[in-house]
Amino acid sequence: MSWLVRLWVPSSEVDQVSADLWTMGTTGIAEMERDGTKVKLVAGFTTQGQSTAAADSLRQHQAVSEKVPPWPTPEPETIVRPGLSIEIDAGRAFGHGRHPTTELALDLLLTLNPKGPVLDLGCGTGVLAIAAALNGASPVVALDIDPIAVERTVANAATNGVELETSTVPLPDFPLHEQATEQGTTLFETIVANMLPVELEPLAGEMAERLLPGGRIVVSGFLSGHHQRVADFFPTLRLLGVREQGDWGGLVLGSGN
Ligand SMILES: C[S@@+](CC[C@H](N)C(=O)[O-])C[C@H]1O[C@@H](n2cnc3c(N)ncnc32)[C@H](O)[C@@H]1O
Repeated sequence: MSWLVRLWVPSSEVDQVSADLWTMGTTGIAEMERDGTKVKLVAGFTTQGQSTAAADSLRQHQAVSEKVPPWPTPEPETIVRPGLSIEIDAGRAFGHGRHPTTELALDLLLTLNPKGPVLDLGCGTGVLAIAAALNGASPVVALDIDPIAVERTVANAATNGVELETSTVPLPDFPLHEQATEQGTTLFETIVANMLPVELEPLAGEMAERLLPGGRIVVSGFLSGHHQRVADFFPTLRLLGVREQGDWGGLVLGSGN
């Protein structure tokens, strides 16, 4: 999907508005948050015409149409960074190393040079997790709710000769903090997440809680200029750096200096 419509709907009207959105050609609807008796919905559309028409007809719900630059079709490739060469066969999973959102996340991650536990949240093909592992981070956990992505990550980890812990378990259900400390894998020095703000926002609180003291979070997948909006998802962390590439932005957040 390359266009999103965001809107606030009274709870009692969600079914009706959702039915209207389906009639108007949405490719999917997500319920993002609740505020009292109102629900925030996000609906995807493949064309600008559909998206703006939907936003216009639902104007009474503060509907806004927003462009999301399309993910490209990935092809097998080698991603090269100083001292690193990563083989990625994307298959049907998202992620090739030259998409600006992946490049931003990869470069910010490598700048941090983590050697302790790393979480790649929304791993896609596993490119970021594999880069972290090849760069010496350990252990590295790669999570994605899409089983195809996790399958690809496992295959690509094998191709690159690195060990990852992979799972389709959603982050909030991933082993608890008490167990984590024993296993050393679920509190992280660095968490990297390349995903859309609508996907990131509900995960932000849990991400901040999974960070070791002094840890860092790298985020990409948002539009240039939107870094403060994304940083605001993490009120307990400080914005340490912002980088932009074309239409896209990336940032680093952290506790401490
Ligand atoms: C834009 S892709 C990024 C893939 C890869 N990390 C990269 O940088 O190339 C975002 C990924 O996040 C995953 N995702 C979306 N929501 C998620 C969630 N709540 N938990 C885990 N993964 C999620 C998607 O399935 C998708 O594979």
